Amino acid sequence: MSITILGIESSCDDTSAAVITDGILRSNVIASQKVHEAFGGVVPELASRAHQQNIVPVVSEALRQAEISASDLDAIAFTRGPGLLGSLLVGTSFAKGMAIGLNIPTVDVNHLHGHVLSHFIKETEDQEVPEFPFICLLISGGNSQIILVNSPFDMKIIGSTIDDAAGEAFDKCAKVMGLPYPGGPHIDRLAAEGDPDAFKFAKPHIPDYDYSFSGLKTSFLYTVRDNLKIDPDFIQNRMPDLAASLQKTIIDILIDKLNKAVKHYKVKQVAIGGGVSANSGVRKAVDEYCRRRDLKAWIPKRSYTTDNAAMVAMAGYFKFKEGMFCTLDLPPYSKVEV
Ligand code: KG4
Repeated sequence: MSITILGIESSCDDTSAAVITDGILRSNVIASQKVHEAFGGVVPELASRAHQQNIVPVVSEALRQAEISASDLDAIAFTRGPGLLGSLLVGTSFAKGMAIGLNIPTVDVNHLHGHVLSHFIKETEDQEVPEFPFICLLISGGNSQIILVNSPFDMKIIGSTIDDAAGEAFDKCAKVMGLPYPGGPHIDRLAAEGDPDAFKFAKPHIPDYDYSFSGLKTSFLYTVRDNLKIDPDFIQNRMPDLAASLQKTIIDILIDKLNKAVKHYKVKQVAIGGGVSANSGVRKAVDEYCRRRDLKAWIPKRSYTTDNAAMVAMAGYFKFKEGMFCTLDLPPYSKVEV
């Protein structure tokens, strides 16, 4: 018997719905919210209201593109957290209400598990997927974690950031350069034209597999401040070089700890996920790192690096097969570790 899951994602500023049948993607619709652009960051209250406006049309469109009707669904998976509470409430409440109406079960999904399991979404029947165990570098605006993935339900965080996340390092340094929020994609674009060895920024010296990016941020700020004293147009004149050097430093920091973890846990496969895994330099560096060591690299499609319901439906599918349903009284949560 085939299993069809509707996934719903509303943890931050993207309203998304997706349909997956037996692990194969049938639709993945995402409505991004433009309302935050003027504020230089996501405004939680505005995000919740936009989710409310978007959720019905987004779910309808996901069903339409999948060429099914709601009565064909076996379960509804939804992001329960972590994320913005008001935003999560919209998706969570909608999923529960729809499931009650259809008399089908609900499955709650940890957003971070979704990113890890997005590598199992198949777009064709014969598409390859990772083999357990593997290490996943989960890098976003809120997290920088090294996760040992033993199974869809056994994920052990072996390293995480002690201060800023990798995405925050991109965004905060981009802000120093006067770039719009989120700065990561702008740094990525500018870095392609710059010299990655033009500037040297501080790298952390902390034990084990943990990350730290706050020292780099300060070092970047001081470099800019000192050079502005000599040349008031320093930022404009050196934008690509600043971006390329910053990106290289972040990549070096990421790969250094990843390498330690891969060696210690002796895994043969490495995956990346989260918003920062869209970065061209990060993708290339992880790919090259794996090639040199004869490891299999799993680099997600760019559409799965941002918030999307396909990964929620996928994680929901794994749980559905094990009968891991949730009760309707489960509230969303804003913070959690994997
Ligand atoms: O996972 P995500 O969409 O959201 C949360 O953190 O919840 O990640 C967003 C982060 C932002 O910091 C953004 O600047 C970063 O991902 N990002 C990038 C790129 N695209 C998004 N950073 C560097 N290069 C990119 N191409």
